[in-house]
Amino acid sequence: MVIERVGIVGSGIMSSGVAEVAAKAGYEVVIRSREQESADDLLLGIAKSLRKQVDKGRLEEKDAEEARRLVSATTDLEVLGDCDLVLESVVEELGVKMGLFRELDAVMKPDAILASNTSTLSVRDLAEQTNRSDRVCGIHFFNPAPVMKLVEIVEADTTSAKTLAEAEQFAERCGKNAIHVKDRAGFVVNALLFPYLNNAVRMMEDGIATKQAIDIAMKDGCGFPMGPFELLDLVGLDTSLSIIEALHKGLGDPNYKPCATLEQLVEEGKLGRKSGEGFYVY
Ligand code: 3HC
Repeated sequence: MVIERVGIVGSGIMSSGVAEVAAKAGYEVVIRSREQESADDLLLGIAKSLRKQVDKGRLEEKDAEEARRLVSATTDLEVLGDCDLVLESVVEELGVKMGLFRELDAVMKPDAILASNTSTLSVRDLAEQTNRSDRVCGIHFFNPAPVMKLVEIVEADTTSAKTLAEAEQFAERCGKNAIHVKDRAGFVVNALLFPYLNNAVRMMEDGIATKQAIDIAMKDGCGFPMGPFELLDLVGLDTSLSIIEALHKGLGDPNYKPCATLEQLVEEGKLGRKSGEGFYVY
């Protein structure tokens, strides 16, 4: 099957980032958000990001115009019925994603791929909600999607080789490096990254060093582009907490228990860059 029309479900940073990347690669993209206002905001955000790239001389005006033309937004899930690939990128809650997979399976054409951008949840659990478990896989982009080169293609034990190959072709046409990974909590990147981020918070709580010092340490000592607290704020503290909780539950390692400060900040609505404050104020 040739993928031409791509549906993206969700209204967060990942949805708009992936929509932008896919439109720049020449796919027709339709984003589904539950609220008209957030659907409109997504389109404005993508147009603004494309404008920035033109201003910086990184993108031709005509290519930005073509990408803008290729993206539309809707509140109606049925509009995704004629997509060849739908990528779900909603909140990291298994119950929510399972319900969405059942709804999407009912409206999508039978041979279309239904993929999840989940960070840690079981792709198999999502596949089981559908009548197309061979056409379900994970396609996991990284934040910020327009910049990060990696996509993890996640294989549940029900996923067909054809689905994996088509998902990989999609990621590659989006300009990404695809790696294949089995369906295990956190896949490769998050299983390695989030224990590190959680331990950085624990180190601050234990008074070993300040968050600023730990950020400097990892940038200047290891050459990381961002320190752990800067990265937690970029990813979003609510998303980070869900990932750490899922790893803790999925892998059963007490070392993965979420730190109290992370839980406290999320409870206070301090979610990182997107809310204006997290570990730092923006
Ligand atoms: N959207 C689009 N483009 C962006 C961007 C964004 N949010 N942030 C930065 N960029 C672009 C800039 O426009 C710039 O492009 P240019 O070279 O064409 O001008 C380029 O990226 C570099 O940006 P800056 O010079 O402003 O800033 P930095 O050099 O500090 O880079 C960064 C910013 C790319 C975010 C870099 O700090 C970085 O790589 N950080 C680590 C990010 C990371 O680890 N992400 C993975 C998180 S885990 C995850 O996503 C998993 C998920 O499941 C939660």
